[in-house]
Amino acid sequence: MKLTPAQVEAYHREGYLFFPGLFSADETRVLNAEVPNLYAEERPENVREKGSTAVRTNFAAHTYNDAYRRLARHPRLIEPARQILGDDVYIHQFKINGKAAFDGDVWQWHQDYGTWFNDDDMPDARAMNVAVFLEDVNEFNGPLMFIPRSHQKGRQEAGHDVSTTSYPLWTIDNATITRLVAEGGIISPKGPAGSMMMFHCNLVHASGSNLTPWNRTIVYLSLNSCVNHIRRFKRPEYIAHRDFAPIQCLADDCLN
Ligand code: SIN
Ligand code: MN
Repeated sequence: MKLTPAQVEAYHREGYLFFPGLFSADETRVLNAEVPNLYAEERPENVREKGSTAVRTNFAAHTYNDAYRRLARHPRLIEPARQILGDDVYIHQFKINGKAAFDGDVWQWHQDYGTWFNDDDMPDARAMNVAVFLEDVNEFNGPLMFIPRSHQKGRQEAGHDVSTTSYPLWTIDNATITRLVAEGGIISPKGPAGSMMMFHCNLVHASGSNLTPWNRTIVYLSLNSCVNHIRRFKRPEYIAHRDFAPIQCLADDCLN
């Protein structure tokens, strides 16, 4: 999939792009069908919500599940990332975030590059997230919130929050968020299952809890430019990958 010059320009200016319904209902069904079994497994790749058995995030399914192995090589995800980063890309991180009905907890305000810099020694912010909604995302079930254009200000100071949720994260303080929101506002991509979004690794984002009866499962590929590979191997391999070989795409119908 090739982005138009206007889309590339919008990505660089706003820090994100959104493609409602990019994947068909059949393609989304193939991916969704795997989630209950993946989440049911007792393995370190499943991080559960604090005080609950609901899965908050599943890591690295592309290394042990065939449907996700194919998604990780999908040209609708990989080609636009390559085009924007101007380089071959590899998968730094692969997550299926549950945000389960009633149990899905918050993700505090943060930049992904804050964590990748502090924990993994990723040299530059030449990385992004490409995400696919596996269920409809609406204003109620914990949609992602972006502060448009916040990526242009570079990496913000962050503190290591190891207590708010079950997953440690480098988070940004309220004063900084207040200032950034006063300038950029907040937007929230919402749409049907199969929608795709791409966002810069310095775009400041968060999501609220999910008090609805609707799951909000989203799969994220964190793609890094191959030359920008991480230098520190402190976190487990299933959280911060060490295979820096360029992704080879499959055919566009690889999920069918
Ligand atoms: C993230 O920021 O990495 C995940 C946020 C979410 O899935 O709501
Ligand atoms: Mn994030």
